[in-house]
Formats: sequence, structure tokens, C-alpha cells
Amino acid sequence: MIEYRNLKIALLGAGSVGSRVAQLLLEHGDELASRVGAGLELVGIAVRDVDAERDVSLPKELFTTDAESLILSADIVIELMGGIEPARSYILEALNSGADVVTGNKALLALHGTELFAAAEQVGAQLYYEAAAGGAIPIIRPLRDSLAGDRVKRILGIVNGTTNFILDRMDVDGDTLEGALATATALGYAEADPTADIEGYDAAQKAAILARLAFHSEVPVGAVHREGITSVTAEQVERARRAGYVVKLLAICERVVDPVTGEEGISARVHPALVSRLHPLAAVHGAKNAVFVEAEAAGDLMFYGAGAGGLETASAVLGDLVSAARRHVAGGPGVGESFTAYLPVVDIGKVQTRYQITLEVVDATGVLATIAGIFSDHDVSVETLEQSSATGRTPASSATAATGAAHTGAAHTGVAAHGEQASDHITATLVIVTHRASEQALAATVASLAGNTAVARVTSVMRVEGA
Ligand code: NDP
Ligand code: HSE
Repeated sequence: MIEYRNLKIALLGAGSVGSRVAQLLLEHGDELASRVGAGLELVGIAVRDVDAERDVSLPKELFTTDAESLILSADIVIELMGGIEPARSYILEALNSGADVVTGNKALLALHGTELFAAAEQVGAQLYYEAAAGGAIPIIRPLRDSLAGDRVKRILGIVNGTTNFILDRMDVDGDTLEGALATATALGYAEADPTADIEGYDAAQKAAILARLAFHSEVPVGAVHREGITSVTAEQVERARRAGYVVKLLAICERVVDPVTGEEGISARVHPALVSRLHPLAAVHGAKNAVFVEAEAAGDLMFYGAGAGGLETASAVLGDLVSAARRHVAGGPGVGESFTAYLPVVDIGKVQTRYQITLEVVDATGVLATIAGIFSDHDVSVETLEQSSATGRTPASSATAATGAAHTGAAHTGVAAHGEQASDHITATLVIVTHRASEQALAATVASLAGNTAVARVTSVMRVEGA
């Protein structure tokens, strides 16, 4: 039997993830020790309530409410409490005491990453966070290490399992958003308060973390453009299906070039988008996550798996723990993050993508020419146009799009007809897909369409991504 020196491990939190980390660490300690070349001794678990029922049975004597003393006794601290405070203060204390830190706390990293990485660098410690984006999926280390010699062009991520589950139910079963959310809640995918998931906050935090790594630049979470899925309708999902698309909530991190100045910047955004059914992301079903990376030299890569779950996420945490322990054994300072590119995050209005616009128009001579003229006037090029006939009840005067995205009008749905006197018209439905255009140009186009008497309704505006 080989005798190893012991590294002392402190665990903060024993909830869904923390309890599984403790369980695996206790069960597989010997195996991990042989991989690391040192014993990994779990010296304590800090929680709020030492008597609370746990998902797994763990030795009572490990539990404490005195997180501060526990931190000071450890070589490596694993933070799995979540939230901003006291997690932030505990991580700073751990780093300042020379301990390496492993965390899965995306909210904290998205908000205070700059401060925490700087603190780690200052003392030569290291902060590991594989679980903070994509749960069990290895994506942080590939971006940070494997692709460090390449140039990432774009990341398209399905990074929120709850919303992917909901949109998948709407697509596969024809469910409504409300029905699919109720199922997600019943099955335990959605929290009692699902706001962070369905409004895109969780995905925006992960987008900030991924963009920062991919483009070696600071990306404040507040600079990530965010739209959730709450206005995605069953009709949009069905229309997307008929047109060969699927609706996904995407976290998009993209290297962009200003067409006028030629300067590079970053677009970081979260919103629902149409994805071709031929794209690998279209095959990501249920609550699964996937991150599709387009790199200049490597080409296209996709990382797929469980984005959440106690046991699954514990795998990523333990991987980080092994890395941290190996570093302790080898000695030397931690490897700092490289945030040296200083690329600015550009305003959503400057971002270019493709769009699908659905209109109800008056079915009369010259209307198509009018619509085409509006696109042309705003320098937005039409890629495809499909017309189908329908008889509708439309306002006598024109109607306006009442879309959600302030800058662009390119949010998901919504039309507010504003005619005082509705009347029966023969209408046609137009589904127009554009070539790439700026959000600004698209917003101006949609506003002009909505204000034109030939247009009865702007039924839906959705971005088309991944082509
Ligand atoms: P839980 O809410 O299940 O568990 C949190 C744990 O932290 C509990 O044991 C709680 O103690 C303890 N805790 C909370 N506040 C304090 C405090 N002030 N002092 C001491 N202990 C405290 O969280 P999860 O396990 O779900 O998540 C942990 C982290 O992992 C979060 O940052 C989350 O974002 C991240 N993550 C989670 C994933 C998942 O699938 N759950 C996936 C990817 C990342 P007590 O039990 O006594 O209340
Ligand atoms: N609420 C998140 C999700 C958990 O649904 O993906 C993982 O961050």
C-alpha cells in the first residue's frame, strides 16, 4: 500500500451537487489518490443546518456551520453553496489563505469573476469552475486549454436544460409553453420559481463565462443581451417545424467585425432562435445541453451531455478537484486566466444575423412589390419568401408590431392591431427569411412593415442562427 501525503479538502454546501461530491470523494478516495499522487481527505462540510435530511447518507461528524474555520484548515476548498454572499467572501478567504478553489457557481462568476480571478492570480492560487457552464459537459477546459492556440469564431450553446425541455416538448408534442412548463415543474427540471431559466438569466450567466474564455476578454453579464422564452408560441414552433427549423434558446458568443472600422468585438446574447433541423444542435432533446464551437483551425466541434443534476455535475467538480490536487503535488503557481485581448462587447443593434418574419398582408395587386420595396429601402435582402392564402379579420387601418426587443423589434412574437374598425379582408400569410442583416436595419424594416396599410399583422419575428 502506497503512503501518500494528504491534501485537506473542505466542502462548502451539501445540496444536490455537494452531497454527491462528498459521496463520490468518500467512495472513490483511494482511486483518486492514486491518480493524484496524494490522499484527498474530506476534512469537513459546511452547511446551514447540520441536522437537515440529505440526499445521501454522509458521516455526521463532517458537518459544521463554521465555514470560516473549515476554509482556513484546507488545501483545496470546494464551494457548492450557490448565491453571491457569503460564497464570494468565502472564496476570497480561501484564495487569500493560499488554497485552490473549485466552484460551480455561475451566478457568482458571471458577476464577480474579474475580482475572483485577480485574487487567485495575486496569490498564485487557482480557481477551477468546470461545473459553472454545461454541468457535466467538459467545455471550460476545452476552451481554456485545448483551444488556447486557436481562434474561436463563434459559440452556439444550449446551456439551459429547463428551457430546452420546454421547447422540445412544444416541438415534439405540440404542447403549449404553459403546459410544457407545468410538466417541467412536475418532473423537477424547473424550479418552483422558474424565472432564472425561462427569462434567460441562467443562460446569460453561462454566456458571459463562455465568451470571456473564448475571446480572452472581460464580458460583464450585464453586457449580455438577454431574451427568454416566455413569448414563444405554439404557432411559432409549429411554423418553424413546417419550415425545417426548431426553436431553441441559444447562448451565442461571437467574434464580430465592425463593417466600417474593421475593429473586432464580441457579441454575447441569449434569445430564442430558429435552428435548421440539419444542424447538430437540433438533435439536442429534453433537458440535455450542448455547446457548438466554431474555431478557425479546428473547425466545428460539439460538446454534449447533462447540463445539470447532482451526480452529473459532481463529475465535473471532481475533475476540477483532481486537477487542483495534481497542481498541489507538482507545486508552482496557478495558471492565470488570459484576459488579454480586450475586445469590447458590441451593442445588439450592430449584430448581424438572419431573420424569419411572418406577416399577414392584404391579398391585393401590388402588395408583394410594396413589401419587397420596404425590405429593399432598409437594405435588407430577402433570401426566401413563401405565400399562403387565408381569409382573416383584420383592422381597417394598419397594424403595428408590438415586439419585445427594444432595439430591434426582433423578439419573438406579438402584434397589436390598432385599427378602430375591424373588417373582413382576404389576407395572405407571407413567411420571409432574410439574408444576414443588422438588428438595426431589421428593426427599421419591421417598423415600416407594421406601419404600412398593406400589412395587417406582423405575426412573428425570429432570428435564424447556425447557418
Ligand atoms: P443546493 O441549493 O441544493 O445546496 C446548497 C447547499 O449550500 C446546501 O447544503 C446549503 O446548506 C448550503 N448553504 C447555502 N447557503 C449557505 C451558507 N450561507 N452557509 C453554509 N452553507 C450554505 O445547491 P446545488 O447543489 O443545486 O448547487 C450548488 C452550486 O452548483 C450552485 O452554485 C449551482 O449554480 C451550481 N450548479 C448546480 C447544478 C445542479 O444541477 N444543481 C448544475 C451546475 C451548477 P443546507 O443544506 O443546510 O441548507
Ligand atoms: N436551471 C439550470 C438548467 C440548472 O435548467 O439548466 C443548471 O445550471
